[in-house]
Amino acid sequence: HLHPSNHQESSILRRANCRAKGGAPGFKVAILGAAGGIGQPLAMLMKMNPLVSVLHLYDVVNSPGVTADVSHMDTGAVVRGFLGQQQLEGALTGMDIVIIPAGIPRKPGMTRDDLFKINAGIVRTLCEGIAKCCPNTLVNLISNPVNSTVPIAAEVFKKAGTYDPKRLLGVTMLDVVRANTFVAEVLGLDPREVDVPVVGGHSGVTILPLLSQVKPPCSFTPEETEYLTNRIQNGGTEVVEAKAGTGSATLSMAYAAAKFADACLRGLRGDAGVVECSFVASQVTELPFFASKVRLGRTGAEEIYQLGPLTEYERVGLEKAKKELAGSIHKGVSFIRA
Ligand code: NAI
Repeated sequence: HLHPSNHQESSILRRANCRAKGGAPGFKVAILGAAGGIGQPLAMLMKMNPLVSVLHLYDVVNSPGVTADVSHMDTGAVVRGFLGQQQLEGALTGMDIVIIPAGIPRKPGMTRDDLFKINAGIVRTLCEGIAKCCPNTLVNLISNPVNSTVPIAAEVFKKAGTYDPKRLLGVTMLDVVRANTFVAEVLGLDPREVDVPVVGGHSGVTILPLLSQVKPPCSFTPEETEYLTNRIQNGGTEVVEAKAGTGSATLSMAYAAAKFADACLRGLRGDAGVVECSFVASQVTELPFFASKVRLGRTGAEEIYQLGPLTEYERVGLEKAKKELAGSIHKGVSFIRA
């Protein structure tokens, strides 16, 4: 027999489950939208993360195939697949982190806001499931438009009485990853040595790189500042156009999502000084949500950092960003309240 009999298979599964339950050290992570362009490489990267003991892969299509594939990797995490709405509960129960890349991506000519109609409903359904099955989980929300889907998630959790602002994180890591790459290119440095804070939100002018706060300390000409700001703000569109109708950033996004989830896991473990940018409930500006540096700890986003000194160029950018953000946040909130 090439395949184990049902009996053998169930005893193998029992042992795997036993290992997963029996306190194999590590965290339980679910990916919702795991069969998608981001979901698949993200599933692979999370299966490679030594901090993950259980990996749940949920989608409304094709999750069995992705699960079978990823489960053959000889790394520690036990992988389980979940298909369709009726298996959402099983996918979510007991999870420490839920990563959400479910929803349609952009095509050329579309803004992230054009995705609102479809993705708002998807995010609402998934967050209702989270409120019911794993209200204490840390949510990493990737589905666009992030500037609106994070407020949607917050409203769903408020309605359910489970809202903890520290545990709801909009993923803006790709903007930081791009900023590090493009700035390193201009400076002639290795991107791993560069750290660029990117604040505001995750769309067009709301993506505000703070080039005056780049580490290592450096300075840019006005032309370089203009070029870098534009390239960072339009990095997503660069990929959408190059992919010519077949999707948006998936590989760099999966990398960024895995990097962000790893930071969340290290925070949950109790590591000190884990700081990343994220779009969160915030008092840094007058807006209810804003992306800035946050310290990730055992309970989620434990500290939100102020923006620090800004240049005139950045102050102008901040005003533009806030104007657009206010509208996107309002749109998300009204979607649930209306
Ligand atoms: P994709 O279309 O390749 O994959 C999306 C997956 O979500 C599909 O497998 C689909 O079956 C699944 N899905 C749809 N409805 C679902 C539901 N109700 N429950 C569970 N799964 C569901 O799209 P891709 O390229 O993976 O992008 C996903 C999302 O991530 C898009 O909204 C995109 O705009 C966003 N994105 C966000 C970025 C960020 O920086 N935050 C960067 C790049 C993309």
